[in-house]
Amino acid sequence: MIQTIKTTPFGDQKPGTSGLRNRVSVYQQTNYVENYLQAIFDSLEGFVGQTLVIGGDRRFYNDVAIQTAIRMAAANGFSKVMVGQNGLLSTPAASHVIRHYRAFGGLVLSASHNPGGPDGDFGIKYNVGNGGPAPEKITNAVYDRTQEIDSYKTIDAPDVALDQIGVQRSGDMVVEVIDPVADYAALMETLFDFAAIEDLFASGFTMTFDAMNAITGPYAHAILENRLGAPKGTVKNGAPLPDFGKGHPDPNLVYCKDMFDLLMTAAGPDFGAASDGDGDRNLIIGKYRFVTPSDSLALLAANAHLAPGYKAGIAGIARSMPTSAAADRVAEKLGIAMHETPTGWKFFGNLLDAGRVTICGEESAGTGSNHVREKDGLWAVLLWLNIVAARKQSVDEIVREHWAIYGRNYYTRHDYEEVDATIASKLVDDLRAQLPGLVGQNFGEDLQVAYANDFKYHDPVDGSISVKQGIRIGFANGSRIVLRLSGTGTVGATLRLYLERYEAADGRHDLDTQVALEPLIKLSEQFAGIKQRTGRQEPSVIT
Ligand code: G1P
Ligand code: ZN
Repeated sequence: MIQTIKTTPFGDQKPGTSGLRNRVSVYQQTNYVENYLQAIFDSLEGFVGQTLVIGGDRRFYNDVAIQTAIRMAAANGFSKVMVGQNGLLSTPAASHVIRHYRAFGGLVLSASHNPGGPDGDFGIKYNVGNGGPAPEKITNAVYDRTQEIDSYKTIDAPDVALDQIGVQRSGDMVVEVIDPVADYAALMETLFDFAAIEDLFASGFTMTFDAMNAITGPYAHAILENRLGAPKGTVKNGAPLPDFGKGHPDPNLVYCKDMFDLLMTAAGPDFGAASDGDGDRNLIIGKYRFVTPSDSLALLAANAHLAPGYKAGIAGIARSMPTSAAADRVAEKLGIAMHETPTGWKFFGNLLDAGRVTICGEESAGTGSNHVREKDGLWAVLLWLNIVAARKQSVDEIVREHWAIYGRNYYTRHDYEEVDATIASKLVDDLRAQLPGLVGQNFGEDLQVAYANDFKYHDPVDGSISVKQGIRIGFANGSRIVLRLSGTGTVGATLRLYLERYEAADGRHDLDTQVALEPLIKLSEQFAGIKQRTGRQEPSVIT
């Protein structure tokens, strides 16, 4: 019953920062999904007779890809597939299911925060047995395999009824359709003081949560409203839609501007939050206070002991290189290790597995802990609620007190999207060529270049080395300019410029971020010439 179908390679199946992302129209080419899945299976060893988890964020093409993946898993020798009802599993929930049921690995079918629908993006990511994204060793092998693949294996079997919870079969393989929320909700209950959060809502604390018509709707309804007693209507846009209601499911101040505006008014709720397409990113806004993701990481690490799951303290913190150094100050004060990794969650896996760190985060609105091996949007929201409940203070008070102790890292990211790829790579190469000459030079009163290089990461656990992970220019006073090319875009190149400046505990903490960073913004244009070379007047997105 196993069929071996001939195929020919596609040249573009190179996994990026987070799996293989591409336009839906690219994925719809005959054998595109099949080739990539077979390349994944061909790069793995020892899965015959094991379980594979499959889930996605409900975006367009998930239904087709999931049925294909089930048939191919059966043909390749898995004995069981666990799949979320209707194909749904948020990325952190998929990570938990893989770990909880000791599956061999999982397929996460999502393009995260990229738009969906027939004209949007689709993606496939393979996660390993620890629940985390496959490390580079595997993603490189998958890419190599896609370049030589000449056949794939499938079976001739009807579609599985994904709406029916329970056990079915695809060929000889067992397919178990599971409730996508239950295991994840139970995990959250072990980590947080649900009684205290219930009391918070009962005392009149108000919140709005925007699920952006994406995967977190069912999770947020179940946990926030049904379990923790937040009033019905707290969760907005709670039904996952294949095109995310034509929205852009990235929880930032551009796509959640209405929520931000509401939170800046007296009539607005006490707390606003959102999560992205696949549920791993978070947005946190208190009344009159937006919390930058880099600050959020530092604040969550400093206050984690207030949640039952972390009451014994945290072992260490990890952040991606472009993320601000706010968390470093917390680690220093707590006397725990701080790790700086390349961009992308896959680099946190080894540190978490080895017990070296408990909390991780990225400036791109991702925070998480050792409870799974992905970043986790709702986890961050629940930890914030737990902290607010325990401290009995507003988000704004908590943030300002934090700065008064640790100082403030002013931080922004400027994205230039869909830039001509040739211009972008030349720009990066030219900046790289200038780096050796910059060290020691002074630019204005307080900007002396202390180091200028390509970030290189030496993984302390497995010894692997990752090079060219972003250009960084650091100054003696702690300020930084970082530039890198995005690894998740699907059209042209996206340039990401990250700017940071440290203001000491007794300094000014009330400046507008863009104003506070203006000298660095100007200097980065002098070094890299993004506006001049791309002809853009402004970044596409400022976060
Ligand atoms: C972006 C973010 C990165 C994150 C990734 C997946 O990658 O910058 O922090 O891990 O999305 O959510 P990039 O497009 O910059 O390669
Ligand atoms: Zn995501």
